[in-house]
Amino acid sequence: MSRSDRIVDTAEQLEAPFTISPEAYVSRDHARMERDRLWRKAWLQAGREEDIPEAGDFVTYDIGDDSIIVLRADDGTIRAFHNVCTHRGRRLVDTPQGKRNASGNRRNFICGFHGWTFDREGQCTFVQHQDDWQGALTPERTALGKVRCGNWGGWLWISLDPDGPSLEEWLGPIPEMLDPFGLQNMRCRWRKWIVFDCNWKVALEAFNETYHVQTTHPEFNQFGQFRGWARNHGLHTNIGYEAPKGQEQDQAKLRLGSGEDPRQSTADMQVFTWVNANTNTTRTLVDAALRLKDELPEDTPAPEVSAHWLKSAREADARRGVVWPVVQPAHVAKSGTAWQVFPNFQIGHAVNNMLCYAARPFGDDPDKCIFEAAVYELYPEGEAPQTEWEYTAAEDWPPVLQQDFANMRAVQQGMKNIGFRGTLPNPYMERAIGSLHMNLARFIGSAFPRNLD
Ligand code: FES
Ligand SMILES: [Fe+2]
Repeated sequence: MSRSDRIVDTAEQLEAPFTISPEAYVSRDHARMERDRLWRKAWLQAGREEDIPEAGDFVTYDIGDDSIIVLRADDGTIRAFHNVCTHRGRRLVDTPQGKRNASGNRRNFICGFHGWTFDREGQCTFVQHQDDWQGALTPERTALGKVRCGNWGGWLWISLDPDGPSLEEWLGPIPEMLDPFGLQNMRCRWRKWIVFDCNWKVALEAFNETYHVQTTHPEFNQFGQFRGWARNHGLHTNIGYEAPKGQEQDQAKLRLGSGEDPRQSTADMQVFTWVNANTNTTRTLVDAALRLKDELPEDTPAPEVSAHWLKSAREADARRGVVWPVVQPAHVAKSGTAWQVFPNFQIGHAVNNMLCYAARPFGDDPDKCIFEAAVYELYPEGEAPQTEWEYTAAEDWPPVLQQDFANMRAVQQGMKNIGFRGTLPNPYMERAIGSLHMNLARFIGSAFPRNLD
């Protein structure tokens, strides 16, 4: 392979074949630059709004060396503070052993070292022997550092950059594309996390393309071949599947099996997905798929099977008080199946459920990341299960995810091999990978993807 000097710095260049140097995945220097130039500059998804419903409820979010407290204030709005005591720098709220983050409800945050106390506005309200400082402990010196925060889609967002773009500017086209799906109304069915032996980008890239499905998840081949696309939208990307003829405006992710009898292949695919992945579907959709053979004649054309399946599931949910949003078919088609929110969050949306992935570095070790996945759906009022982030060993994840994990670990090892010349992503189906690295390189100033000659 010849190494061209043409760095990829535009969305158009991503359409031509490109390569990415392993340095971005394995170098400790690169990981440190990411801390300074990416993680301290980007808007990051730090939790879910429903996890802090009441005044004083808080969660912490750790990113590399930094930790943030995100809090519901007395006026109901969100506040965020640096999780560090202004006295001598003790982390103010500890993460309990084995937990993903700290959480709870506090009127005050009392530092465990010398007892300095902070209220829900971050103001320091108590210092033992304050007079010893001879008046120098002004509110500006003692208040917790403020962190910019916002909310969109039901998530809490933070930015450590006081001068960066607004959350709205950062998200760009995403709210317009995803607001019709009402993501803020969905609640977790399950959420799991793990410290995994690969770079955070390797983890995300195991899920931001559909090219791997036929090899990594061969069981899905029996339900039909699905060719996927990826599109760049500035910082972000989305991916989707090319729809079969006549189903171009189908409900995207809620797709039919494309076997000989779509009634059967849809039921088979739904059951397989429910049992082996526990993602991208709901019990209602599975049950509606299982009824297709009773409710439709044998040679019903695929578009009619699809319409019937979704109508029947929508009605079954409505009867238990779960109302799916109505999204125009053309909008569903355009929105695809998942959005990669730069830098490290993926939302796999649908009208009644979603599957989200996130990955972030574990300390400054380029070979480790915190990987997490959460599955959400619509529940009847007051019936959403109470879930927590469960630390889950690799072998205890759903089988389909374990297939992805096997690649993640092996890719991290393989890329360190002296004989590895750089990745060769599919410029059509794996364009989201190119986009991630192009945008990352713009922040870091190095390791741009390069077009191949
Ligand atoms: S470090 Fe927090 S009170 Fe001393
Ligand atoms: Fe996969």
